[in-house]
Amino acid sequence: MHTRLTINGAPVAREVAPATLLVELLRDDLGLTGTHIGCDTSQCGACNVLVDGVAMKSCTLLAVQVAGRTITTIEGVAGSDELHPMQAAFREHHGLQCGFCTPGMVIAGLEIVRRHGTQVSRETIAHELEGNLCRCTGYINIIKAIEAGARAMAGTAAVFEAEGEAVDA
Ligand code: FES
Ligand code: FES
Repeated sequence: MHTRLTINGAPVAREVAPATLLVELLRDDLGLTGTHIGCDTSQCGACNVLVDGVAMKSCTLLAVQVAGRTITTIEGVAGSDELHPMQAAFREHHGLQCGFCTPGMVIAGLEIVRRHGTQVSRETIAHELEGNLCRCTGYINIIKAIEAGARAMAGTAAVFEAEGEAVDA
Protein backbone atom coordinates (compact mmCIF):
# COMPACT_ATOMS: atom_id res chain seq x y z
CA MET A 1 0.00 0.00 0.00
CA HIS A 2 1.13 3.54 -0.66
CA THR A 3 1.44 6.08 2.11
CA ARG A 4 2.53 9.70 2.07
CA LEU A 5 3.19 11.70 5.17
CA THR A 6 5.41 14.43 6.50
CA ILE A 7 8.12 13.39 8.93
CA ASN A 8 10.21 15.99 10.72
CA GLY A 9 9.26 18.54 8.10
CA ALA A 10 10.13 16.42 5.06
CA PRO A 11 7.64 14.73 2.73
CA VAL A 12 7.90 10.94 2.76
CA ALA A 13 6.27 8.55 0.29
CA ARG A 14 6.59 4.79 0.73
CA GLU A 15 5.14 1.48 -0.31
CA VAL A 16 4.42 -0.42 2.89
CA ALA A 17 2.77 -3.68 3.84
CA PRO A 18 -0.72 -3.06 5.27
CA ALA A 19 0.39 -4.27 8.70
CA THR A 20 3.50 -2.07 8.91
CA LEU A 21 3.49 -0.12 12.14
CA LEU A 22 4.45 3.53 12.19
CA VAL A 23 7.31 2.70 14.56
CA GLU A 24 8.60 0.14 12.06
CA LEU A 25 8.48 2.66 9.22
CA LEU A 26 10.34 5.19 11.35
CA ARG A 27 13.03 2.87 12.64
CA ASP A 28 13.52 0.22 9.97
CA ASP A 29 12.85 2.16 6.81
CA LEU A 30 13.79 5.74 7.68
CA GLY A 31 16.50 5.05 10.26
CA LEU A 32 14.88 7.28 12.87
CA THR A 33 15.96 5.04 15.71
CA GLY A 34 15.43 7.62 18.43
CA THR A 35 11.89 6.28 18.59
CA HIS A 36 12.28 3.16 20.72
CA ILE A 37 10.34 -0.06 21.17
CA GLY A 38 10.21 -1.02 24.83
CA CYS A 39 7.25 -3.39 25.03
CA ASP A 40 4.70 -5.25 22.98
CA THR A 41 1.75 -4.29 25.13
CA SER A 42 1.40 -0.53 24.38
CA GLN A 43 2.41 0.31 27.94
CA CYS A 44 5.88 1.84 27.96
CA GLY A 45 5.63 5.01 25.85
CA ALA A 46 9.18 4.63 24.50
CA CYS A 47 7.70 4.83 21.00
CA ASN A 48 5.95 8.18 21.50
CA VAL A 49 5.90 10.57 18.56
CA LEU A 50 3.86 13.68 17.81
CA VAL A 51 1.11 13.17 15.22
CA ASP A 52 -0.15 16.59 14.12
CA GLY A 53 1.30 17.89 17.37
CA VAL A 54 -0.36 15.32 19.65
CA ALA A 55 1.67 12.58 21.37
CA MET A 56 0.78 9.07 20.26
CA LYS A 57 2.34 5.65 20.65
CA SER A 58 3.75 4.80 17.25
CA CYS A 59 3.58 1.07 18.04
CA THR A 60 -0.21 1.36 18.05
CA LEU A 61 -0.53 3.07 14.67
CA LEU A 62 -0.30 1.60 11.21
CA ALA A 63 1.84 3.49 8.74
CA VAL A 64 -1.09 3.71 6.33
CA GLN A 65 -3.30 5.01 9.12
CA VAL A 66 -1.28 8.21 9.40
CA ALA A 67 -1.19 8.98 5.68
CA GLY A 68 -1.36 12.72 5.18
CA ARG A 69 -0.44 13.47 8.79
CA THR A 70 2.55 15.35 10.15
CA ILE A 71 4.84 13.26 12.35
CA THR A 72 7.52 14.66 14.63
CA THR A 73 9.98 12.24 16.18
CA ILE A 74 12.57 12.99 18.82
CA GLU A 75 15.01 13.75 15.99
CA GLY A 76 12.74 16.58 14.85
CA VAL A 77 11.52 18.24 18.04
CA ALA A 78 14.30 20.81 18.22
CA GLY A 79 13.99 22.02 14.65
CA SER A 80 17.56 23.35 14.76
CA ASP A 81 21.01 22.45 16.04
CA GLU A 82 20.04 23.60 19.53
CA LEU A 83 18.28 21.26 21.90
CA HIS A 84 14.59 21.90 22.43
CA PRO A 85 14.05 23.44 25.90
CA MET A 86 12.44 20.19 27.03
CA GLN A 87 15.49 18.20 25.91
CA ALA A 88 17.83 20.70 27.57
CA ALA A 89 15.87 20.40 30.80
CA PHE A 90 16.32 16.62 30.81
CA ARG A 91 20.07 17.09 30.46
CA GLU A 92 20.22 19.80 33.09
CA HIS A 93 18.08 18.01 35.66
CA HIS A 94 19.49 14.52 35.10
CA GLY A 95 16.15 13.23 33.87
CA LEU A 96 17.72 10.07 32.54
CA GLN A 97 20.08 7.25 33.34
CA CYS A 98 20.31 4.66 30.56
CA GLY A 99 18.30 6.94 28.28
CA PHE A 100 16.12 4.24 26.76
CA CYS A 101 12.87 5.83 27.86
CA THR A 102 14.05 9.39 27.29
CA PRO A 103 12.80 10.09 23.75
CA GLY A 104 9.34 8.97 24.81
CA MET A 105 9.57 10.96 28.01
CA VAL A 106 10.54 14.14 26.17
CA ILE A 107 7.60 13.70 23.80
CA ALA A 108 5.38 13.03 26.82
CA GLY A 109 6.67 16.25 28.37
CA LEU A 110 5.67 18.18 25.25
CA GLU A 111 2.24 16.58 25.37
CA ILE A 112 1.87 17.54 29.03
CA VAL A 113 2.64 21.17 28.18
CA ARG A 114 0.22 21.05 25.27
CA ARG A 115 -2.51 19.76 27.53
CA HIS A 116 -1.78 21.63 30.75
CA GLY A 117 0.36 24.63 29.87
CA THR A 118 3.78 25.75 30.94
CA GLN A 119 2.83 26.21 34.61
CA VAL A 120 1.74 22.59 35.05
CA SER A 121 2.17 21.19 38.56
CA ARG A 122 4.45 18.31 39.55
CA GLU A 123 1.40 16.36 40.65
CA THR A 124 -0.16 16.69 37.20
CA ILE A 125 3.11 15.77 35.51
CA ALA A 126 3.37 12.64 37.67
CA HIS A 127 -0.21 11.69 36.88
CA GLU A 128 0.23 12.28 33.15
CA LEU A 129 3.31 10.06 33.04
CA GLU A 130 1.21 6.99 33.76
CA GLY A 131 1.68 5.86 30.17
CA ASN A 132 5.48 6.06 30.25
CA LEU A 133 7.69 3.54 31.98
CA CYS A 134 11.25 4.10 33.19
CA ARG A 135 13.26 1.27 34.71
CA CYS A 136 16.09 3.41 36.01
CA THR A 137 15.34 6.80 37.47
CA GLY A 138 12.50 6.45 39.94
CA TYR A 139 10.80 9.25 37.97
CA ILE A 140 11.66 12.09 40.37
CA ASN A 141 14.22 13.72 38.08
CA ILE A 142 12.04 13.12 35.04
CA ILE A 143 9.23 15.04 36.74
CA LYS A 144 11.65 17.82 37.69
CA ALA A 145 12.97 17.93 34.13
CA ILE A 146 9.50 18.18 32.60
CA GLU A 147 8.57 20.90 35.09
CA ALA A 148 11.72 22.86 34.18
CA GLY A 149 11.22 22.22 30.46
CA ALA A 150 7.64 23.45 30.70
CA ARG A 151 8.71 26.64 32.47
CA ALA A 152 11.44 27.18 29.87
CA MET A 153 8.84 26.93 27.13
CA ALA A 154 6.78 29.75 28.62
CA GLY A 155 6.61 32.66 26.24
CA THR A 156 8.36 30.85 23.43
CA ALA A 157 6.94 30.85 19.92
CA ALA A 158 4.62 28.08 18.81
CA VAL A 159 6.15 24.86 19.93
CA PHE A 160 3.74 22.46 18.37
CA GLU A 161 3.26 21.83 14.74
CA ALA A 162 -0.02 21.48 12.93
CA GLU A 163 -3.14 21.60 15.03
CA GLY A 164 -1.67 20.64 18.37
CA GLU A 165 -2.54 23.64 20.48
CA ALA A 166 -0.17 24.97 23.08
CA VAL A 167 -1.80 26.12 26.29
CA ASP A 168 -0.43 29.47 27.51
CA ALA A 169 2.94 28.71 25.97
FE1 FES B 1 4.96 1.47 22.16
FE2 FES B 1 5.90 0.30 24.40
S1 FES B 1 6.74 0.25 22.39
S2 FES B 1 4.13 1.58 24.17
FE1 FES C 1 16.66 3.98 31.72
FE2 FES C 1 14.43 5.45 31.85
S1 FES C 1 16.49 6.12 32.02
S2 FES C 1 14.61 3.37 31.30
